Amino acid sequence: KTISDLGDLRGKRVVIRCDFNVPLSGQTITDDGRIRAALPTLKELLSQGARVTALAHLGRPKGTPDPKFSLAPVAARLGELLGQSVKLATDTVGPSAQAVSAALADGEIALAENVRFEAGETSKVDAERAELAEKYAQLGDYFVSDGFGVVHRKQASVYDIAKLLPSAAGHLVEKEVSVLSKITTDPERPYVVVLGGAKVADKLAVIDNLLKVADTLIIGGGMSYTFLKAQGYEVGNSILDESKVEACKGYLADAQAKGKRILLPVDVRIADGMDFEARTVKGEVEVVPVDAIPADKGGLDIGPESEKLFAQEIAGAKTVFWNGPAGVSEIEAFAGGTKAIAKALAEGSAFSVIGGGDSAAAVRTFGYSDDQFGWISTGGGASLEYLEGKQLPGLAVLEGDK
Ligand code: 3PG
Repeated sequence: KTISDLGDLRGKRVVIRCDFNVPLSGQTITDDGRIRAALPTLKELLSQGARVTALAHLGRPKGTPDPKFSLAPVAARLGELLGQSVKLATDTVGPSAQAVSAALADGEIALAENVRFEAGETSKVDAERAELAEKYAQLGDYFVSDGFGVVHRKQASVYDIAKLLPSAAGHLVEKEVSVLSKITTDPERPYVVVLGGAKVADKLAVIDNLLKVADTLIIGGGMSYTFLKAQGYEVGNSILDESKVEACKGYLADAQAKGKRILLPVDVRIADGMDFEARTVKGEVEVVPVDAIPADKGGLDIGPESEKLFAQEIAGAKTVFWNGPAGVSEIEAFAGGTKAIAKALAEGSAFSVIGGGDSAAAVRTFGYSDDQFGWISTGGGASLEYLEGKQLPGLAVLEGDK
């Protein structure tokens, strides 16, 4: 169901789940792409005269209020983009959220505080999520699901609430599904998937299934070090998921058996470490081949030879899906690999889909416009799981009748 199936929304209270998980540097939003992507649905609801209460998460707070993860910067930016005030509640479902939601007039919008300040939001216990979802549902007559980036999470504001209220997909979810279903069902080949980023455990979990659909997997970023270790290299103090080394050996063997390829970096940029908050490097930046990473240093980006190798592969592809930066692209010294991938995609002729907040933010920071790529998805993990052919809880639940 889509918004038009909900009928006349004038004066109706609508709870909408958005993905406002934007990158921040202190309190400054460094890429507002996910907020902009929510505007078509929000504007339509508001112009119809709905009373909108938005739910969203930011980061991964641990089920309790944490000012570091407040949605305050999001409320301010959303207000600027909409050209109207967005009142931010000081809690998620408590007295403040109830009061700001109840005070809405037709065509007004409020934002509840970060849903992950409530332990029930991400609970694995169905009853705990359901109890929280009941409270969300009291804020609306209808539910609109437009946070595509989070539809792969079986969480209270994504999944459980949709069981309680008449629900529909927003325009962003509709558009994302139409693009991703196209490259899932009938990709033009060669089909290359480029993976990187820092959510190593999440991404390692999808490789198995991606090997079934893609012809080549290019692996950079945090995950590559677990693969390099699986190939027998020492990776110093680079990010490593020791528990997945054996699994990576299996993926490499599996790829070979299936006639697919997994391309890994052949060189890396290393340093003693970095201060992510201050965006500074510790020690000298050096380029070394992957068999020469010293024990006391770590890889923070792919090196120039890897950039060439990856760019060449992308140039020969007809479809490319890219998720996750090749290095710590927010720090200039480690942005080279991610820049090289962005350039190869923008200049190549493949239909390109970029997924994930960090990759999308990176290409925009480098000065590319969205129309230089086939589609910039707001989903990171969500788009990956969609491509794997998995059923996503936040989408499946919209198909049930209420
Ligand atoms: C994302 O950044 O991919 C989405 O906002 C989901 O965030 P999560 O991985 O913390 O659930």
